[in-house]
Amino acid sequence: MGKSLLVLGAQWGDEGKGKITNYFSNKADVVVRYQGGNNAGHTIVFNGHKYALSLLPSGIFDNNIKCILGNGMVINPLAFVNERNNLISQGFPCNNLYISDRSHVIFKHHLELDSLNEENLKENKIGTTKKGIGPCYSDKVSRIGLRMCDFVSDNFPKLYKNLLEIKNKEIISLGGTPIDYESSVKEYLAAAKIIKPFVCDTISLLASLRKENAKILFEGAQGALLDIDFGSYPYVTSSNVTSGGVISGSGIGLFGLDEVLGIVKAYTTRVGEGAFPTEIFDELATTIREKGHEYGTITHRPRRVGYLDLVALRYSILINGISSICLTLLDVLSGIDKIKVCVSYDYHGQTLHTLPASNEILKECKPNYVILDGFKEDISDVTSFEQLPLNAQKYLNFIEHELQVPISVFSVGADKKQTIVRKEIF
Ligand code: GDP
Ligand code: IMO
Ligand code: MG
Repeated sequence: MGKSLLVLGAQWGDEGKGKITNYFSNKADVVVRYQGGNNAGHTIVFNGHKYALSLLPSGIFDNNIKCILGNGMVINPLAFVNERNNLISQGFPCNNLYISDRSHVIFKHHLELDSLNEENLKENKIGTTKKGIGPCYSDKVSRIGLRMCDFVSDNFPKLYKNLLEIKNKEIISLGGTPIDYESSVKEYLAAAKIIKPFVCDTISLLASLRKENAKILFEGAQGALLDIDFGSYPYVTSSNVTSGGVISGSGIGLFGLDEVLGIVKAYTTRVGEGAFPTEIFDELATTIREKGHEYGTITHRPRRVGYLDLVALRYSILINGISSICLTLLDVLSGIDKIKVCVSYDYHGQTLHTLPASNEILKECKPNYVILDGFKEDISDVTSFEQLPLNAQKYLNFIEHELQVPISVFSVGADKKQTIVRKEIF
């Protein structure tokens, strides 16, 4: 059994990472976010309550678990304070937080630029969450960004003023409204006061916890196919979502991962633009969307819905080193007469078994489907694989056989209790 477990999305996001991270957090000493920011929306349901997290790791509800926001993250300090206050008001102390001094800070100008960039892209827009993610990572790579160590330093007002002068010029040139320094700096200084006690060297912290044999849970945000390098570029997010991102985004070191659990929705969803070969356009999409509550946690956009895509999943397994799968939202498929599963693509008469790099090519790929018999029974109360209807068992067996990776966990409802572990992995 592993001492460190990575929980990551194997599709285009919203696979149920929050639920599964929270499920395993009971056994963890530490939960670490390593990339992304408040573009994530992780839903967690337990004890009859539903919580939505964007920035805070899904271990936050237990004050004994250390929650690390790693160096690979981009953190909006105002959003952080809001999310934390919101949880405090619901009775969670939220003192168990450790924010990397190397993480980058999202400011208002990043949000403004995110919106302006999208407007200017017109019909080629990405469909971002408009949380400033891309512009913040751009500044990081351009080496002009401000990090948490700057944000909580006495130098911050001066650093921010200089940066804002440059950024406001960019905003004006794109036809936007410049950000007012005086009012913003006041807001940021107030937030910095709250945040400062949590900012630390999380790399050394993680190293010492590892030495003490701590159990470490890494929580991915977004999904592998939204990865900046491996995803369906340019319709991706701006971080390394995939397992390599854990190394660069937390400082755990190359051999720090024992088990990689790929979270796979029993079908596929996607928010935002970009090719989606198995997308469904008939009433079945509406049925699944309503049953699975497939609306964005953050933006409330209806999610695009499609059949399971094994071409995409094989690729995802390869690039992440996924060692086992957690199949989520299986209950949503009950009542569907015939379930299609995409096993390869047809691209103008050519059979493709892996994901093409070009969105233009992917757009023209037609899925080759295997059709399986569906199941009618409500499965939301099952507690073992054996209790599943035979056709549901066959669906899992087929996926395992095609992907050659065990489905160690599956989920039949949003509640933490509706999780079935077939093989202990953590
Ligand atoms: P994340 O971003 O990967 O954490 O996923 P989201 O929270 O954005 O979306 C997953 C949605 O499915 C949320 O509404 C969850 O509460 C819900 N969910 C998770 N697992 C299951 C499941 O097995 N069955 C059902 N019906 N809902 C689930
Ligand atoms: P969780 O963690 C689904 C998508 C956006 C858009 C693209 C770029 O809840 O799975 P960004 O704002 O990151 O620059 O947007 O990525 N996207 C997500 N889709 N789930 C998410 O997070 C996402 N985070 C970003 O819709 O297509
Ligand atoms: Mg989500």
